[in-house]
Amino acid sequence: MTGEQDPSRRGFLKVLVGLSAVVAAGGLGKGVVQNLVTPSVGLTSFPETQLYWVNPNSGNSAPVPLKSEEFQMNSPSIWIYYYPLSDEPNFIIKLGKIETNGKEIPVKVDPVTVTIDATGTTFLSPGGVGKDSNIVSFSAICQHLGCIPPVIHYYPPSEIDSLPANVKAAIAAQNTNGELDYGVIHCNCHGSTYNPFMGAGIVTHPTYRPLPNVILKWDPITDYLYAKKLIGPVVFGHPSDLTGGNAISNLKKSTVIKMSSS
Ligand code: FES
Repeated sequence: MTGEQDPSRRGFLKVLVGLSAVVAAGGLGKGVVQNLVTPSVGLTSFPETQLYWVNPNSGNSAPVPLKSEEFQMNSPSIWIYYYPLSDEPNFIIKLGKIETNGKEIPVKVDPVTVTIDATGTTFLSPGGVGKDSNIVSFSAICQHLGCIPPVIHYYPPSEIDSLPANVKAAIAAQNTNGELDYGVIHCNCHGSTYNPFMGAGIVTHPTYRPLPNVILKWDPITDYLYAKKLIGPVVFGHPSDLTGGNAISNLKKSTVIKMSSS
C-alpha cells in the first residue's frame, strides 16, 4: 500500500480527536460521550491466520490446512473465510485462463496499483500467491451498499456469458490486454463489478471503491496459506478493518467454507 491513507480512515480518526477536544472542554454529557467515543473494538492489530478447509476430495470432514495445489482453479463455487472479524467474509479465488482448446491454465497475478475512484487515492494490490502465484483474496462485502455472498460472487471465465449485457459490454470494452480474461466478481444487488486479476479494481459502477484486498502469505515448503492483513479501502460498514465487530474466534486459524452458488 502506498503511504496515502484512505480519507474515510482519516475521517474516523478526526471524529475521535474532535470529540476528545469537546470532552476536554466539558461540552458533552458523560453518557453521550461514552456512546460516541467507544467504538466496538475487535482487534488492535491484524493477526496472521492460517487458512484451513474441509478438502472435498479427501473424504475427511475435519478441517485441514489449505494447500495451494489442492484448491480448485476457476472454481464456480463460492469459497469464503472470515477475517479478521467474525462478521467479515472474504473471497479466496484461484485464477486461471481457458485456452482456445478448452484447457485451463494458471495465470500469474502480478502486483498492481489500484485506484479508489471515490477518493482519488491508490494502493498496491499484492498480487497472487501459491505455487503458480494465482491465488488472491478480497473482502466479500460489496463496497457499494454492503451486499454479501452469494449475491456477490466470483464468475469464472466459463460463467461470463451469464452476466448482464451491460457488464459483458463493459468487460469487452475494457479488456484491451486480456486483463479481464480471468473472470470477474459481480454483485447482483445493483450491478457493481470488480476485476480479481487487477486487485478487485472497478469494472462497473455503482461502486466507487474497489474491494479491500487481503494480503496472503504462502509457505513454499508446506504449501500452506495464511491471511496477514487487509489493505485498500476500509471494509464496507466498518469504521476500520479492525473495529465494528468481534474478532474471529480463533486468531491462529480461519476455516474456508464453500457456499452454494446463486
Ligand atoms: S451493494 Fe453491491 S452493487 Fe449495490
